Amino acid sequence: MTPSTELQRPVIKTSLPGPKSLEIINADAQYVTPSYPRPDYKLVADHASGVWITDPDGNVFLDCNAGVAVCSTGHCHPEVVAAIQKQVSELIHLCGTDFYYRHMPELGKKLNEICPIEGPTKTHFANSGAEAIETALKLAMYHTKRQKFISFFGSFHGRTLGALSLTSSKKAQRLGFLRQALDVVHIPYPNKFRHFVTDQPVDEATITRDCINWIEKKLFQTTTPPEEVAGIVLEVVQGEGGYIPAPKAFVKELRRICDEHGIMLIIDEVQSGMGRTGKMFALDHHEGVKADIMCLAKGLGSGMPIGACVARADIMDWHKGAHASTFGGNPVALTAALKTIELLEGGLVDNSRDVGAYLEAGLNKLKDKYDCIGDVRGLGMMLGVEFVRLDGSIAPELRDIVEMACFNRGLIILGCGSNSIRFSPPLILAKEHVDVALEIFDEAIAASI
Ligand SMILES: Cc1ncc(COP(=O)(O)O)c(C=O)c1O
Repeated sequence: MTPSTELQRPVIKTSLPGPKSLEIINADAQYVTPSYPRPDYKLVADHASGVWITDPDGNVFLDCNAGVAVCSTGHCHPEVVAAIQKQVSELIHLCGTDFYYRHMPELGKKLNEICPIEGPTKTHFANSGAEAIETALKLAMYHTKRQKFISFFGSFHGRTLGALSLTSSKKAQRLGFLRQALDVVHIPYPNKFRHFVTDQPVDEATITRDCINWIEKKLFQTTTPPEEVAGIVLEVVQGEGGYIPAPKAFVKELRRICDEHGIMLIIDEVQSGMGRTGKMFALDHHEGVKADIMCLAKGLGSGMPIGACVARADIMDWHKGAHASTFGGNPVALTAALKTIELLEGGLVDNSRDVGAYLEAGLNKLKDKYDCIGDVRGLGMMLGVEFVRLDGSIAPELRDIVEMACFNRGLIILGCGSNSIRFSPPLILAKEHVDVALEIFDEAIAASI
């Protein structure tokens, strides 16, 4: 399953960033927007294969981030590359919003088969996660004839103005943009490691009850009458907010609330979907709970830009011309997605579950070893490690130092939330890679405290 590779360990042979990388970083500073949220360390990619990234100076890094949970099948998986190359030689673009080609119904049919949505589905194709979210918001407003949305603190749904109205994981994402475009109210996310009032760990039943009460006993009784709510937008595992899974009882309760009030349950699986959690979708861990609308992107195309909004067919009842996009559903991106799903179903989802459990066990050993690790959590290959001070308060500076120490040793990981590190490797990661990653992570923490 893992593409064969001779290389067993990262190779760092220059100071980082090396001289050729620095040239690119300097040119970037001159010509590219400064708004990108890049981390303190500076990785420049020249080429990549499987779980290995090579920079222009010949340094080789072990990738436990997958281009922020995108390269699900690993970098340049040979079967994905071959499928893309064949498609590029046959049809690059035609504009599926005005004309037809086989790839749209093929992928729509496949998504209908695999998405945890009750009954038949239809799909609107987009180019990114934010666009898939925009589609979901417009669709929910159109279908319910309502305008309000409920989102969660810590959530990330994208940076276009509609999606940004939902997003609340960092101040920097909002600062300077003044009012939000949509009528969105934010509520606490059920993080059992940090209760939203006490900042202390609590059991799942308590955090579930407190968050649900907030909706039913506060919001619905005051600012946000349920009959005016078009949708509740949930990341089943909060991604940018810190890789925090929602308790099963909470997700079930949200479904009940949506059913009682005719509210759309919009599940954002942009980061958690496509095998990342050890099942095809994070919602698949919640037996019996189905979404009304789902948003996908990132891992769907193994790196090709694609987003999808999948909805119950009876909800996707909007008129001709209501929503479309020139590039959305481009045949090359759709080909990559079809091949990606084939590979996921052919073993990579299982690998995510099994090797993810192995990685989680190793991270938990490090939690026992180091007081500065407060929590290890997640599902499959979507694992978060939270760094804390001795009194349990958050340790963002230490997290950043560890991140840099990993980079200097050739391990690519990325922060999430205020004080966590995420492991979101390509789903082809093997146990031998995990051993190397854990050894480097261990060394990096030891050198940072
Ligand atoms: C859960 C979630 N939703 C939406 C988005 C936005 O996706 P994109 O950056 O492709 O617009 C992201 C991106 O990180 C995400 O993690």
